Order: sequence, then C-alpha cells, then structure tokens
Amino acid sequence: MRDFNNQSIVITGAGSGLGKATALRFARAGWSIAVADLNQKRGEVTVDEITLLGGTAFFQRCDVAKLEDIQALHEACEQRWGGVDVLVNNAGIASSIGPIDHVSMEEWQRIIDINLMGVVRGCHVFSGPMKKRGSGHIVNIASIAGITSTPMLASYNAAKAAVIALSETLRWELKDKNMGVTVVCPALFPTNLTESIQVSGGVQQAMVKKEMAKSKLSADDIAGAIYDAVLVNKFMLLPHKATRLQWWLKRLSPDMYQWFYSRQTAKKKPGK
Ligand SMILES: NC(=O)c1ccc[n+]([C@@H]2O[C@H](COP(=O)([O-])OP(=O)(O)OC[C@H]3O[C@@H](n4cnc5c(N)ncnc54)[C@H](O)[C@@H]3O)[C@@H](O)[C@H]2O)c1
Repeated sequence: MRDFNNQSIVITGAGSGLGKATALRFARAGWSIAVADLNQKRGEVTVDEITLLGGTAFFQRCDVAKLEDIQALHEACEQRWGGVDVLVNNAGIASSIGPIDHVSMEEWQRIIDINLMGVVRGCHVFSGPMKKRGSGHIVNIASIAGITSTPMLASYNAAKAAVIALSETLRWELKDKNMGVTVVCPALFPTNLTESIQVSGGVQQAMVKKEMAKSKLSADDIAGAIYDAVLVNKFMLLPHKATRLQWWLKRLSPDMYQWFYSRQTAKKKPGK
C-alpha cells in the first residue's frame, strides 16, 4: 500500500457518473476532493453529498477544453492543500455513431479536444508540481473502445487509444519521480454519458443506453476498483471481466483476435 501526503484528489467531470462515484469513494476513505466540472449544478450536488458523508470537498467550474481553466483548478488546489496527491482525468463525452465519411470534422474536433486534449492538459499542468514534490498519481479514464476499435465510433476510439498511449508513455516517464499512473478501460456501464451525443432524435442515445444497461458493473463498482488501483499503483485497469480476455487475446495473437472479433460482429447482424 502506498502512502500519500495529504490524501487530496482532483477529479474532472465529477458532477456525474464515474467521476462522481470516484469522488464519493475517495471521500468515504477520508480524502479531500476537488470536484471539477463544466456543469456547476451537478458538481455542487456532488460536494453536498460528500459533505453529508462528513467529507471535505470544494467545487471548481472547469472546462477541460480550456488550458486556463485547468491552470486555475491547479492553483485552487495549491492554495487549499499546498499540492495534490492524485489527479483523475475523467471528464469525457460520447461521440455520434457513424461511418468515417459521414461524421463531420467539427465532431472529430469536439471529441479530440475533450477526450484526448482534456487529458493531455490535465497531465501537462499537474505533473510538474507533483514531480517537484516527489510523489503523485495520475488516473486517466480511457475506454475498452480504445482497444477494441468498434466500427462507427472512429473519433471516440482514436481519442481513447491515444489516452492509453499517453498513459503508457507517462508510466515510464514518471516512474523515477516516484509517481504512478493508472489507465482505466471500462466497457459500457450506466451513466449520463449519452446526454453528450449531439445527434438529435434520440435513436443513438437509446441504442447506447440499452447496451449500458447490460453492464454487470455500476459506476460505484468501477470507482471502487479505481480506489484499489491507486493504492497499489496498478497500471492497466480493465474492470469488466469479459474485456480482460479481449485485451490479452489482442496482445498475444492479433490474428486470432481479429478472427474471433469478426465472428462476434457477424453474429450481431440482423437475421443471424
Ligand atoms: N459510461 C460508460 O459506458 C463509459 C465507458 C467507458 C469509458 N467511459 C468514460 O468515463 C468517463 C466519465 O464518463 P461518464 O460515463 O461518467 O459520463 P457522464 O456524462 O455521466 O459524466 C461526465 C461528466 O463530465 C463532464 N464534462 C463533460 N465535458 C466536460 C468538459 N469539457 N470539462 C469538464 N467537464 C466536462 C460532464 O458535465 C459530466 O459531469 C468519460 O471519459 C467516458 O468517456 C464511460
């Protein structure tokens, strides 16, 4: 088990879903929480719930698409705690579903700016001071989509794959600075993520919600796994059991993985 200085944690996107569940998990263990989110109302509800538990938290409005917001978030933590032990780059959005020639360049920009560059900005701003203090941990929330590359989700897959590559890089880069990195690759689970799908009509939202409802794990379960991973400095966290096989198969035998995966996709086609 690792020891942290003040047990302080910053979580982006902590107003909802996995970010909120992670905030509550760490708060129950006595950590102080910086709840950062674009959505002030939801972020303040998370703070209220932490306070009701007897925990300590503050809300900071933060758009991870803006470097100055992340810098202000860092400054607020420095002033309160004199440093941060753990950063969770969790804020993220869902992409629209569609083939590469249909999804607009604006949609690509939106996904890359938040799901990839939001994580990059967090690592860029918080890692330097952690290095100086000689300890810290960064948790990046990716997705199994970054490994399985499901068709029709190119922008989301590409952003999450890049978050995995970024995390692998930082794992080695920061090791000598007494810092740890965890990358989390969940499959679908129920949250408010579908609200960020920008296609109107609700068909895509309903499709994703239906898949999310099949998850054997809740946001609370995954938050618990994140808490444990931080304490033991576990790098790759694949909370859903079934995805662990996909991960290993793809690494051990990419051809066998491809064969297995194309059979799975064929089975899902209507009439099969
Ligand atoms: N829910 C799933 O099935 C699933 C699966 C794999 C990975 N993930 C990832 O988990 C993370 C959390 O998503 P969730 O499922 O809890 O969704 P959610 O929509 O419930 O929560 C996301 C939070 O991020 C905030 N947010 C969005 N854009 C932001 C921005 N620019 N700046 C700051 N905050 C912003 C939202 O306001 C919201 O509170 C995301 O990175 C997502 O890609 C989710």
